[in-house]
Amino acid sequence: MDSIVSIRKNLRILVGVTGGISAYKSPDLIRRLKERGAEVRVVMTDAACEFITPLTLQAVSGHPVFRRLLDTEAESGMGHIEIARWAELVVIAPATANFMANLASGRAQDLLETVVLAASAEVVIAPAMNQQMWQQTATQENLKTLQRRGIRVVGPGSGDQACGENGPGRMAEPDEIADQLLGDGTPVRFAGKRVVVTAGPTWEEMDPVRGITNRSSGKMGFALAAAASDLGAVVTLISGPVHLRTPDGVTRIDIRSAQQMFDGVMQHIDDADIFIAVAAVSDYRPVIRAAQKIKKREQRMTVDLVRNPDILATVASLDSRPFTVGFAAETEQVEKHAREKLVEKGVDMIVANQVAGQESPFGSDSNAVTVHHRLGDIPLQRTDKYGLSVRLMEIVHDLMSRREDPDQQEAATAGRRS
Ligand code: C5P
Repeated sequence: MDSIVSIRKNLRILVGVTGGISAYKSPDLIRRLKERGAEVRVVMTDAACEFITPLTLQAVSGHPVFRRLLDTEAESGMGHIEIARWAELVVIAPATANFMANLASGRAQDLLETVVLAASAEVVIAPAMNQQMWQQTATQENLKTLQRRGIRVVGPGSGDQACGENGPGRMAEPDEIADQLLGDGTPVRFAGKRVVVTAGPTWEEMDPVRGITNRSSGKMGFALAAAASDLGAVVTLISGPVHLRTPDGVTRIDIRSAQQMFDGVMQHIDDADIFIAVAAVSDYRPVIRAAQKIKKREQRMTVDLVRNPDILATVASLDSRPFTVGFAAETEQVEKHAREKLVEKGVDMIVANQVAGQESPFGSDSNAVTVHHRLGDIPLQRTDKYGLSVRLMEIVHDLMSRREDPDQQEAATAGRRS
């Protein structure tokens, strides 16, 4: 089994514990998932509480354990639907024969069954039971049903059992489960890769108090920098004036003008593998910056403007250029303009969004975009900017590996509109 999610830190994992003697291994599993950078919450069945106390799992996970369905107090905190939505991965360990049977028949009798049914995340089970129960046709058929539905199974191992018998049915060891899910915990996708991101607006001074700018909160660029860093990259974020916290692990360089942003990028681009231009760079700057505040004397005033350097196009034209990603914020004919930008700026990928209308992404925490690249278009549904950034980085990864492998470039056109 591939380790699915070694691609990112802070993966939100819901651990479900059902009632078997192997529940004594659950605290160790939780500890090992956390060691590998996951954030863990726990749901226990009533039977699980006969084997191990909720207090133990609360202590190792660092959060209260969820136990009851439709408990007014619990549901007002994080109800079953919220728990299901929260989880990016669900692991049931141990998964008893009874739980597997209920899961196979789609039951929602208790909190855990309901959450699993309501979750859209990947579900992994680590079965644990007496060897005879494991080998029963009923259990084996349930197992096949679950696997057919895409549920992944880790273990069980074979050997001495708590009941004194010997055979298959021992829950996989916590370290093995954690390894299969998360690898060694190192986010590998962009390990060793250097990423330069521009974000926010630029500020082109006319005088000490006035200037020309573009609308941009910087949220999308900061989310991309955070996602790239979480995916293992070394990230330099070159940002215009914004009110945002620097993402963990990211080196931030604050600039004001487009020229300063250009200089900052050029200083860091030499050893960059990926350049992502999210900044709303001011296209023009005043030719003259007045040393003192300009006084209003005339009814009309003309400001002479000169073009700023195009940072993205400059990077894309470098001899040994990084994989280059641009953004296109358009008010109309989004697709046409985005495709033009792809060609004119000579970049590898353009992320386009409509900025006019009710769903405008300006300052918003969510966004919906379409990715345009040489081989086609990929629409991405509205989601939070961090989630969208993780998706975008996966696409970057995919396109970069194809760029290195010409055979795959052809295969990539399948299923995508060119
Ligand atoms: O040219 P336009 O502003 O339409 O293109 C948008 C894309 O180009 C964005 O990725 C933006 O960050 C980048 N850009 C740049 N330098 C400029 C203007 C835009 O890097 N001077």
